[in-house]
Amino acid sequence: MQHHPNTSTSPSRPVHGGIKEAELRALGLSMEDCLDFSASVSPLGPPDGVQQAIAAVDLAAYPDPHCLALTETIAAHHAADGITTDSVIVGNGSTEIIHLLTRACLGQDAATNAAALLLTPTYGEYDGAVRIAGGRVLTLTATRYCSSFSWDTSIAAEMIAAERPALAFVCNPNNPTGALMSRVDLAALADSVAAIGGLLVVDEAYINLSDRHAEANVVDIAAQHGSVVALRSMTKDYALTALRLGYAIAAPPVIARLQTLQPDWSVNGLAQAAGMVALADDRYLERARRAVAESRDCVIERLEALGIRCYPTAANFVLAQVGDAAALRDQLARQGLFVRDCTSFGLPDCIRIGLRPVADCIRLTDAIAALVHTDQTF
Ligand SMILES: Cc1ncc(COP(=O)(O)O)c(C=O)c1O
Repeated sequence: MQHHPNTSTSPSRPVHGGIKEAELRALGLSMEDCLDFSASVSPLGPPDGVQQAIAAVDLAAYPDPHCLALTETIAAHHAADGITTDSVIVGNGSTEIIHLLTRACLGQDAATNAAALLLTPTYGEYDGAVRIAGGRVLTLTATRYCSSFSWDTSIAAEMIAAERPALAFVCNPNNPTGALMSRVDLAALADSVAAIGGLLVVDEAYINLSDRHAEANVVDIAAQHGSVVALRSMTKDYALTALRLGYAIAAPPVIARLQTLQPDWSVNGLAQAAGMVALADDRYLERARRAVAESRDCVIERLEALGIRCYPTAANFVLAQVGDAAALRDQLARQGLFVRDCTSFGLPDCIRIGLRPVADCIRLTDAIAALVHTDQTF
């Protein structure tokens, strides 16, 4: 276990998945020739009715800056957990809310030398947002055993008590490892953070697509515990990826503080309309979880048959240990198959495969098998 209490604050932008136009041009490919396994979104695409709802939006009207109707729909969606509208903020993707949180807790008005604890390897935007806000980044890096990644939460608690970070980020299930932290561990971390007056942000971007969603989500804890924020990404779980939509659930004073920092109209009208239709589809997530599980089993079975280790995953992506991840990623990209090289996560021997429908996963794993069999080095 390594931890680095004091690293630099120099701003650098995080690396993300997704296909970039400049690379397509360099490769002589067009988007229609490609399959994107590098951004992990629901394999089902957007729920039925979303396209129609978007088509009905008046493009010449400003969107509601308060997202009132969508906020009410989100609160109703989580009614069983006691969520009310003053516990919800909607963002232009959950990424916007990550930046609101870091500005609120680490920005100019916050205490000088404020820090955030990141449980790494993890989503790069936390680090990027902390640095932009002028905060210090503290990291606790997971130990990598042969078959899994895990953090020692007692060390996290010690770091929180000693370094007093204003924010702690946990991604659950974690990007890119797929590891799931239990509610018991999360509740203990929340108590450690509360004891020093900080906030624990639990990023549940992938939890709705996990077949273990019920055992780990903390929306109910966020509603009651003044120090916990639960983040959700409808970009991911309802495949509203081009529209960008996310939300956070937290105690009303936390939400009110974030609202003062959010630019008006940041959530566009198409996203608001799409979000309401998506949440109305009661069966969508269950179907998406079944599709994810089927694709996950297919990818893991086929890669392991090639001798490639896959880490256990509670998310809709698979972390696979392939050797030279950058080389494999580039060889696959030339064929229009885009996976995420995990070098920027500090895992240069791993790729992350976002789970698409089974037929696409077979195409990808066949391409990897062909490279293995022709002795291509990666
Ligand atoms: C853990 C995690 N959180 C949040 C996001 C961003 O989601 P959104 O599109 O809602 O901003 C990502 C995107 O990759 C992610 O991996």
